[in-house]
Amino acid sequence: MAVDVLLGLQWGDEGKGKIVDVLSAGYDLIARFQGGPNAGHTLEFEGKKFVLNTIPSGIFFDNTMNLIGNGVVIDPITLKKELDKLKDAGHDLLGKKNLMIAKKAHLILPTHQLLDAASEKKMGDGKIGSTLKGIGPTYMDKTGRNGLRIGDITLPDFKERYQKLVDKHTSMLQAMYGEVADFSEREAAFFEAIELIKKFPLVDSEHLVNNYIKEGKKVLAEGAQGAMLDIDFGSYPFVTSSNTTAAGACTGLGIAPRQIGDVIGIFKAYCTRVGGGPFPTELNDKMGEELRRIGHEFGATTGRPRRCGWIDLPALKYAIMLNGVTQMVMTKADVLSGFDKIYACTHYNYLGEQIDYMPYDICSVDAVPVLKEIDGWKEDITGITKLNEIPAKLQSYIEFLEAELEVPIKWLSVGPDRKQTLVLH
Ligand code: GDP
Ligand code: IMO
Ligand code: MG
Repeated sequence: MAVDVLLGLQWGDEGKGKIVDVLSAGYDLIARFQGGPNAGHTLEFEGKKFVLNTIPSGIFFDNTMNLIGNGVVIDPITLKKELDKLKDAGHDLLGKKNLMIAKKAHLILPTHQLLDAASEKKMGDGKIGSTLKGIGPTYMDKTGRNGLRIGDITLPDFKERYQKLVDKHTSMLQAMYGEVADFSEREAAFFEAIELIKKFPLVDSEHLVNNYIKEGKKVLAEGAQGAMLDIDFGSYPFVTSSNTTAAGACTGLGIAPRQIGDVIGIFKAYCTRVGGGPFPTELNDKMGEELRRIGHEFGATTGRPRRCGWIDLPALKYAIMLNGVTQMVMTKADVLSGFDKIYACTHYNYLGEQIDYMPYDICSVDAVPVLKEIDGWKEDITGITKLNEIPAKLQSYIEFLEAELEVPIKWLSVGPDRKQTLVLH
């Protein structure tokens, strides 16, 4: 099968960027299929660190092409910033000719971001905790059939189309939130960035991807966010506005389900969440702070502290079922080194019952985690390269998780660098 999918199984930030980079050399094309610059995918190699928001994580390999797919929403200003930063670091993607952009990808306008901010402000304490990148309003315009797409930027009447949508947004801002916004600076930056985007190949990506498939080339679909932030199956309404699950790769790239091969699911050895919404295994104590400190759990995009907790098996099982996960990656195992005991949530106490699945409502009804105590390991594992160097207690943790989740953990990540990755199977 030609297309593998790699996606997050928790609430995002599982280490997708790092692992896509590790796997990139084995693929001809890396294609982002949903989300937008709400994502922050971190890669580290040769002492350098990059955070990518819109650009796929396969750009550092010479023989790998990269595509921003039709399911992605693009903020030209952020994309230009990403491209400029990469160019300054010696990676000129225009020169390298290794990035293409789908004509059907939707555009995030400066006013989409204003709407995002105004909506969050109005919700007060009940806010989603959005990254304020304009994701929700842009997908609303997409499904409302008002949106602007990358392909529109080359049309002679693009400015008029833009103005029509902006006029709608400014009336909404005024009527719904009483706001009169000045976004002239961002508007100028938007049009400057559009000129840069025009220089990249703007493609009918569904044809392109299917041609890759026809020619027997290997494609990796790169997800953003995580299964528990999926618009249909996540902890609604505390979710993002796209399908982060495997089905999103089909609609976000224009590929048929039968073309999907492996679905690679990534999870952390514990769990984090950034933004609002339920998080059953959250630790609001010293232990949570320790995980945040040791794991450097601060958002790659917004810098916000990430909420930390123990691994949540009912949530993971749900994510595995929804995605048809065939292989898994466990990241950040090194962060748990040194703890006497670690814990895994095996069930929830929910409305007087013990359940091992994700119930409909975890927003207004508490799902109280039932925790299994597990022996921790003391060894520093950040430098290990061989399987026989894995501490026995970590090996038992891996085997316990594989038995519970019924999917093999194929890769183990023991640090942020590309090289800190072991193949277990
Ligand atoms: P993504 O959004 O899924 O790509 O993940 P992020 O980049 O937002 O967050 C993951 C963070 O953990 C980044 O800072 C990575 O550099 C880092 N990271 C990835 N894998 C590991 C690992 O195995 N150990 C440690 N300590 N850090 C890791
Ligand atoms: P990556 O790809 C973690 C969260 C936000 C908020 C909710 C909705 O780096 O894993 P949005 O901006 O989409 O309207 O925010 O989703 N969120 C993420 N959390 N990692 C991400 O991406 C996220 N993208 C969005 O914090 O709770
Ligand atoms: Mg991230």
